[in-house]
Amino acid sequence: MFIVQRERGYLDPAGVRYLAKRLRLRYTDIWEVATFYSMIQTKPVGRYHIQICKTLSCKIHGRGENYRFMCVNVLALSLARPQLTGSFTVSMVECLGSCGTAPMFQVNFDYHENLTPERVDKIFDSLTEPSRDFFC
Ligand code: FES
Repeated sequence: MFIVQRERGYLDPAGVRYLAKRLRLRYTDIWEVATFYSMIQTKPVGRYHIQICKTLSCKIHGRGENYRFMCVNVLALSLARPQLTGSFTVSMVECLGSCGTAPMFQVNFDYHENLTPERVDKIFDSLTEPSRDFFC
């Protein structure tokens, strides 16, 4: 799935059909796995895919209001940087397995933890740098 995603940008229906045939599985077998895990994209995403954890630990460690502020900050900061316009996708996802350093989000495959509004700002500053591979 990662290889197809890397080659095509996301796991599209043609990619799912290819995998099903190649692995001798049903189309729905591939699709069920693809749609379960947040690291597999079934729709096109921007150059920077920001996945914000929306599960309990991140909300608790983010102390409710702070967590909401952080989420809004992510959106506001991304919109405030014209150089990033059209190059990012923001998704709310289930636990990313980094509960001890919550609140956190993931940009492509990089984790950013113990987030504060200031740290979010610095992360967005780093996104303006020239290209990084989608896959590490
Ligand atoms: S609850 Fe956010 S990483 Fe687990």
